[in-house]
Amino acid sequence: MQPSLITFSTHSKESHSLHNEALNALQTLLDGSGKGNDFLGWRDLPITTEDLLLEDIIRTAEALKKQCNRIVCVGIGGSYLGARAAIEALSNPFDQKVEIIFAGNHMEQEYLLHLMQYLKGSNWGIIHTSKSGTTTEPAIAFRLLRKQLEEEIGKEAAVERIVVITDKQKGALHTLANKEGWKQFVIPDDVGGRFSVLTPVGLLPMALAGIDIRQMMQGARIEREALLNDHSETNPALCYAAARNSLYRGGKKCEILASFTPRLHYFSEWWKQLFAESEGKEHKALFTASVDFTTDLHSLGQWIQDGERIIFETFLHISESRESLPIPSDTDNLDGLNYLVGKSLHQVNLIAEEATMKAHQMGGVPCIKLSIEQLDAYHLGALFFFFEVSVAISGYMLGINPFNQPGVEAYKQEMFRLLKKEIH
Ligand code: PA5
Repeated sequence: MQPSLITFSTHSKESHSLHNEALNALQTLLDGSGKGNDFLGWRDLPITTEDLLLEDIIRTAEALKKQCNRIVCVGIGGSYLGARAAIEALSNPFDQKVEIIFAGNHMEQEYLLHLMQYLKGSNWGIIHTSKSGTTTEPAIAFRLLRKQLEEEIGKEAAVERIVVITDKQKGALHTLANKEGWKQFVIPDDVGGRFSVLTPVGLLPMALAGIDIRQMMQGARIEREALLNDHSETNPALCYAAARNSLYRGGKKCEILASFTPRLHYFSEWWKQLFAESEGKEHKALFTASVDFTTDLHSLGQWIQDGERIIFETFLHISESRESLPIPSDTDNLDGLNYLVGKSLHQVNLIAEEATMKAHQMGGVPCIKLSIEQLDAYHLGALFFFFEVSVAISGYMLGINPFNQPGVEAYKQEMFRLLKKEIH
């Protein structure tokens, strides 16, 4: 068995005391006897996803790329964040073969108006992702964008530029796609939205962005093997779930995910949704927040260092960088930076990370460190899977159902009532 690609470390002793409890939760996940056990499909995706599906995804992405240099990915929540997380983490923002634009993840009119103006007359297409097919935000965006596309190039040509990812046999989007003849990919019944990044929901936009989705699945496969079969106190998912529950029981109210690269900004957004929507039930659970350091050290850093002591931090550490940007010498040295000559910017960033963790610990903020070697498709696939397993263990330790989201309905019902939607 290959070891996990994630290394867990912490200065606090928290994780050890709850190891057995975490292990029981892992067992519950493995034997499928816990709450929400009809939504465990994500657990086996790394080994059940057939190569034929990956080929189809890659082929579809290539076909879209041949016709379009702009693709709008329409979706919200679990039908949006995983794809964006991977694309922002792994692509060079200044060198994109196809421009991937996200929409349908809010209802701001001006954004959509500006986007529609921007797309007008260019070669563009749409990927619409919605498991239910009825989510208001993406449904409105799709209706408007589809209309524009069909008016611009004709209904027949638009068929080649629209792909939908939805339920296998039910839902409005599935019915519509069948009627219009759009290419469809399936979100499996037993995979909930926020656990769907390793299905076509995440993989198709990733393939479009040129990400090696086979490597991503391989990383997830290695991680699956490592996490589901290791019952020792070194299993990083057990350690992480135990540590965060121990800190929560000790009075901490908020976990802040800290990273030192803006490339992980949307990964943190994905992580926040995964944990908050999975655990925030029955008036329990840690509030999940995130910071992009060093940027946020110049804003939220003050609060983290000196504010109310209700937080702990989880640092996402990336050891290596694929490239090196050395800091050059300057004859006048008026900016006083010559003491850094010979170091790469990555090395300076790593030192800033070490210093921040130390300062925050001294300020009374417990810190957890989760490390991966590199930010590439292989390690990101492992990281996605790692957090999915961790949240399942952690949620079971909390005593809630990690796989439903009853709280999301409340605002919808109120909004539908105010909008006078007819409920059938
Ligand atoms: O995790 C979830 O289940 C949610 O965030 C959903 O993904 C989100 O509400 C979008 O739902 P749908 O894919 O049905 O449009």
